[in-house]
Amino acid sequence: MRIIAGSARGARLVPVPDGVRPTSDRVREAVFNSLGQFFDGGEVLDLYAGTGALGIEALSRGYERATFIEKNGRATRVIRENLARAQLSDRGEVLRGDVAEVLDRLVLEERKFHLIFADPPYKMPPREIGGVLERLAALLASGGRIVVESGDPPPMRTTESLKGATRRYGGTLITFLERSKHTMKLAICPGSFDPITVGHLDIIHRVASIYDHVVVAVGKNVKKGPKLTAEERARLIEKVTGHLENVSVEIIDGLLVEFARERGAKVVVKGLRAGSDFESEFQQAQLNRMLYPEFETVFIMAAAEHSYLSSSAVREIASYGGNVRGLVPEEIQDIVQRLYVDGQAPTSDRG
Ligand code: PNS
Repeated sequence: MRIIAGSARGARLVPVPDGVRPTSDRVREAVFNSLGQFFDGGEVLDLYAGTGALGIEALSRGYERATFIEKNGRATRVIRENLARAQLSDRGEVLRGDVAEVLDRLVLEERKFHLIFADPPYKMPPREIGGVLERLAALLASGGRIVVESGDPPPMRTTESLKGATRRYGGTLITFLERSKHTMKLAICPGSFDPITVGHLDIIHRVASIYDHVVVAVGKNVKKGPKLTAEERARLIEKVTGHLENVSVEIIDGLLVEFARERGAKVVVKGLRAGSDFESEFQQAQLNRMLYPEFETVFIMAAAEHSYLSSSAVREIASYGGNVRGLVPEEIQDIVQRLYVDGQAPTSDRG
């Protein structure tokens, strides 16, 4: 076992005492290939440290200080010996004790670490690992990372403040965690919705399953002179999306890009039916991008069974007293029939 890179490159480490599972050189190399090769200062915490190889490798590659926690008395002596062999004794501190207890003490001292290695025994119960991860979340410096080595995926649900990705190296799982930044992915679904159809609702459902939150934005002054006011159209949408927790309905009284900017949204999602929708959508997307360069227009293909459906068809059928069953959501069918019945049949549009 040798230090792979940095100031102590090539230093041979004392082997791990019996009963302590070492992190293989191959896994250690893979971990640093993901974390980065060299570093410019920062504090490292190495739990269940074993030989201390991970923490010492981090010191060798530029971290300023490392704190090792290890319960096994012989292992603590091995870590000290290995720090000495790497000529890094002055930058390492070895704390002997139960990991959870030592972590509680560090939390009380308000210590912060930029890189934390946790290599808990593979047989440790998930609840206990979850408890350790919660403490680690409190010890993580801003922008810091936690690397967990395990046999099974670590119990992520107990640590909602952390997010990460797991990779497999042979029989070892390595999970890289960082503090979740709580950046909600917001999508805007704009339209005239005069009235909302089952095709619109299908698109809204699908967008809501991809994004954290969806704002259905009802255009107030749409060119085609809507039959209902924006408030009335919005109310119909609220009636049929009430069960979707991450969907809200608002009215756009101005430019879509300004509406999006005010809400910090960078994505607009639109449903696309046959080729004929493309021309006008393409133009709108280009214009919106000119006005707000970070703004992306995402298209979702309409379901085949909705390809014939449009608000204008609904308006036309309803205006002659025809039955719009199956074309608009059931909860609003009666009200749509009533509101649109006596109007003049609209001229063609795609809404
Ligand atoms: O149902 P529609 O006709 O596709 O919806 C059109 C809507 C409301 C999305 C569009 O008219 C719109 O974005 N209106 C807001 C005003 C605006 O930003 N216009 C410039 C678009 S290039």
